Amino acid sequence: MGEPFIRVRGLEQKFGSQHVLRGVDLDIIRGETLVLLGGSGGGKSVLLKHLPGLLRPWKGTVEVDGEDISLLDERQLAPYRRKVGIMFQNGALFDSMSVEENVAFPLREIGVKDAKEIKDRVAEALEIVRLPGQQKKMPSELSGGMRKRVALARAVVGRPACVLYDEPHAGLDPITADSIDHLIKDLQHHHGMTNVVITHEMRSVFHIADRVVFLQEGRVHWTGSPEELKDTQDPILRPFVDGDSGEPWVGSPLQSAG
Ligand SMILES: Nc1ncnc2c1ncn2[C@@H]1O[C@H](COP(=O)(O)OP(=O)(O)OP(=O)(O)O)[C@@H](O)[C@H]1O
Ligand SMILES: [Mg+2]
Repeated sequence: MGEPFIRVRGLEQKFGSQHVLRGVDLDIIRGETLVLLGGSGGGKSVLLKHLPGLLRPWKGTVEVDGEDISLLDERQLAPYRRKVGIMFQNGALFDSMSVEENVAFPLREIGVKDAKEIKDRVAEALEIVRLPGQQKKMPSELSGGMRKRVALARAVVGRPACVLYDEPHAGLDPITADSIDHLIKDLQHHHGMTNVVITHEMRSVFHIADRVVFLQEGRVHWTGSPEELKDTQDPILRPFVDGDSGEPWVGSPLQSAG
């Protein structure tokens, strides 16, 4: 295995009395696409938000590009935020801003002021996500898949070394989900990006993952290749691979009412 770009050690996070992360140890290797799996509410999004320092560890450390960022203040964090772009769960675009303003937002945050540079970099990011010339559209004029791609453009516009995607496939049809997968692999292969993807879409896992990590009870329960995942006999993973929630099927309330 290559050198880690991000190294997480003994990461713990608590919200009130809820102990969400209970000692996560994880290496994210430079240039890989890592897929993060786990049950709903298990702490995947919380873990992801620690990587660009949007959340502070309660215990443990997060190293980005060789530096422990867990104790840095907002100003000291800025250069690390530039290295790690994030596409949030639900894609959250600003509805009152055009596509161009949405994508330009992180550039303004990192202090790019030159109007021509902003314009060029937004155009380049929209090319990458295959939405060229859509600058003037408003989010309400876009389809769900287009909105995801604008959110992706916003995550990559600062040319980060690593991009984090929180459920980029949610709510998309299989063809649009495939196009997101192609973009993710394209960023890895042609732009050298390290990708960390949270998804529930098994189809996508097998399309994009170099390595899979399964989070369970606030810790890394399993790590392996997609091939190993396919063959696993682990009783916790098996239902995920088979697309079975593991919950007993109780039938539809509408049917039972009739
Ligand atoms: N800022 C916060 N304040 C309080 N509790 C939080 C906060 N963020 C997350 N939680 C709680 O932490 C737990 C883990 O949430 P998280 O969003 O990481 O789950 P997840 O694994 O991403 O789930 P899903 O697959 O449904 O997106 C949940 O119980 C959630 O309510
Ligand atoms: Mg989540």
